Amino acid sequence: MNDNLHTLRCFGCGARSSGTEARPDFRCAACGDLFEVEYPGWSQRQGHDRPNPGALKWLWRERRASSEGLDQSGVWRFRELLPILDNFGNAVTLREGNTPLYLLKRVAKSLGIDQLYAKHQGMNPTGSFKDTGMTAALSVARERGFEWVACASTGNTSAAMAAYAARAGMRSLVLIPEGKIAWGKLSQAMDYGAVTCQLKTDFDGCVRVLTQTVKQAPIYLLNSVNPYRLEGQKTPAFEIAEAFDWNVPDHLIVPGGNLANSSALGKGFRELRELGLVARLPRISVIQAEGANPLARSFAKSNGTVFEPVEAHTRATAIRIGNPASWRKAARVIHDTCGWCIDVSEAEIAIAKAEIGAEGLGCEPASAVTLAGLKKLRAEGKVASSDIVVLVLTGHTLKDAEYTIGFHSGALLTEQETAGREHEVEALRRNAVAIDASPAAVLDALKASAQ
Ligand code: F0G
Repeated sequence: MNDNLHTLRCFGCGARSSGTEARPDFRCAACGDLFEVEYPGWSQRQGHDRPNPGALKWLWRERRASSEGLDQSGVWRFRELLPILDNFGNAVTLREGNTPLYLLKRVAKSLGIDQLYAKHQGMNPTGSFKDTGMTAALSVARERGFEWVACASTGNTSAAMAAYAARAGMRSLVLIPEGKIAWGKLSQAMDYGAVTCQLKTDFDGCVRVLTQTVKQAPIYLLNSVNPYRLEGQKTPAFEIAEAFDWNVPDHLIVPGGNLANSSALGKGFRELRELGLVARLPRISVIQAEGANPLARSFAKSNGTVFEPVEAHTRATAIRIGNPASWRKAARVIHDTCGWCIDVSEAEIAIAKAEIGAEGLGCEPASAVTLAGLKKLRAEGKVASSDIVVLVLTGHTLKDAEYTIGFHSGALLTEQETAGREHEVEALRRNAVAIDASPAAVLDALKASAQ
């Protein structure tokens, strides 16, 4: 069986190459830019492999009732739109994807928005959206005979990579910035058996070291410069469109770190439109943390055309990234969909995270930038009350329990950071109280909480 119908196209100069010719660092030999996977058979003119929209919608729905592993994956269920393997039998899956789309009723009410949803990618097998990209790219690595895979990470990519490598019987190498990732994520890499190296540098430094390393050893790079990662990460766009009966929401709001996820979701919606599965695109907006905001700065200064890296600082460690690899791809998605790129403060992130927690969902700090960003866009009149809005929550709340406990115990934010927002913070805080082991003390605690 040959299911493989793709080529790689350079995002910068348009040069094409086959997947197997790509350099170990996935940079174009001619211009140094990143590649994108394209499927020439889908084009209108030569379209002998152009998928039939009606048949696909039916097939993808039928697969939800199938007991076959590949069909149960929310990524490979859509395999007609990611023909990147010679044989789909090589796919390594943990039944990723098919994540829930939740209504955020209370937050919607307070923002005066009729329909606000959270697409919770933290409900994936390793607790983050990275699983959807990892099943795709690691399967390519396996098919091409690699024994070792590697990534530099702020934690979630490494957790996902280590898990999928272990499932495939492969070895994995993780480079992470020492002391700058959440414990939950570090523990996952160890649990799944990765060789885990903590480097005395930041994420951007880890990327530099790994890029050199993979040129010197037969190791397959699984950072999001690897274009196959984005093929998996585009599939939540298909799930969202399917959930709205092949319509799209008005707004999709995504956190921005290395900027691959926003790029991938944009690609997913673009392909759906090109193939006639949906009629239009949602506005895709990217939200960054104030201290790690190179794309937001670039949009403010030059509408996303001139880019300068920053030294990144934020407690949302997942997006503590100053020199994002995919900024050009993300800028194109924002332009093509008429979205925005803005940043939010540490207090805004913490408050938004507590509000998502209070809806019974929870998420990690990096995911909460979406709600913090939505509040700003709404206040600026960029989101109407009748708009359908989807926030992409990228990671599970248990990934970074230390942050959550810090917020509720009052140890997270400085006075300066909370200035002017003390009431909002106090109203959301639910500290764990230490009391006597007696019913009277418990009843007192109940009374105190009612005040
Ligand atoms: N949210 C979470 C929870 C993340 O882990 C990341 C990225 C992002 C958002 C940003 O996505 O990079 O595609 O813009 N985490 C990476 C990692 C960098 O190594 O786990 P992006």
